[in-house]
Amino acid sequence: MVKMTPDELRKSYIDFMKRKGASQVPSAGLLPENDPSTLFTGSGMQPMVPYLLGEKHPIGNEITNIQKCLRTVDIDEVGDTSHLTFFEMLGRWEFKANENNYKNKQIDAIWNWQINELGIDPGRLYISVFKGSDDWNIQKDTETIQIWSEKFKSVGIEPVVEDNPYKYGLSRGGKIFLYDEKENWWSRAGSPLDMPVGEPGGPDSEMFYDFEPDGNSLDHPASDSERFLEIGNNVFMCYKKEGTGFVKMQNPNIDYGGGLERVAAALNDDRDVFNTAFFFNAKKKLMELSGKDYADDFKSFRIILDHVRAAVFLINDGAEPANSDAGYITRRLLRRAIRAGKKSVYKEVLWVSCLKFI
Ligand code: ALA
Repeated sequence: MVKMTPDELRKSYIDFMKRKGASQVPSAGLLPENDPSTLFTGSGMQPMVPYLLGEKHPIGNEITNIQKCLRTVDIDEVGDTSHLTFFEMLGRWEFKANENNYKNKQIDAIWNWQINELGIDPGRLYISVFKGSDDWNIQKDTETIQIWSEKFKSVGIEPVVEDNPYKYGLSRGGKIFLYDEKENWWSRAGSPLDMPVGEPGGPDSEMFYDFEPDGNSLDHPASDSERFLEIGNNVFMCYKKEGTGFVKMQNPNIDYGGGLERVAAALNDDRDVFNTAFFFNAKKKLMELSGKDYADDFKSFRIILDHVRAAVFLINDGAEPANSDAGYITRRLLRRAIRAGKKSVYKEVLWVSCLKFI
């Protein structure tokens, strides 16, 4: 696999998608400008909603970018190997896409970037696809299964489709795993049931990297094991909620989102995103100042590294520590970082290290 600095990785992605025909737009801010429904930009698609709903984008129908994102829903999970409150999301959108080719175009682009440009071993890549839903009268995504199958066949891998991942895991040789709408449906609001009328969404197809090829054969991509990490998600946004059901959108959209730090973890073949170059300098400084090793207290190190980084970006985007709204989250993140520091001997140096990080 190709070793890259964060900047090289960003450039590799953007240049590749531009070569495939996309135009680049800058990241929007972390505080959404015209969306009172949410405090933060939590995914790349959020600033794109008007265009996903049909408005014309001024620079065209194929867009790429790397979006700063902040998600607080998983804040209690931070401290493990992969959860981050602030992260960068690789994006690719196609608005008013060609119904006959849009899935193929997206999967082909992301396959080529991951496998041919980055050198990710396709043997370590696992895929999930929507199995369909009788409740919502939406069919299994056979087109996507077919497209991934051809990709795996092209590199000599048998594309076994596993339709019962919870029972069989990897034990029947599965490469493409079928899940229902709890796993393979994406909208801003979540599941089909939670979507308000007018909201766009659709089936998705996620890509997972396998960090433990000799691991438990009953694991599967969506099991909560340490073995797999989702590195990207292809959303085929082709439905709009209407009444109690869905209508097909006249022109479907692509909403691809990839976790930049997670792709870097896959390139390291080490699941711990805090071991990627994104955190290298801050972690080194924290170790230096505290006299402790990362391995002495993974959890506290990770909380400090994540929360301080998130607070820095929030402050930069205008959310200074405050008693309400977005600024309250900045304050909370810093407090939690301090608490994590207090638990360890490096409490005296926490603020110094925060400043160095900034
Ligand atoms: N919007 C999709 C996600 O956040 C790509 O997973």
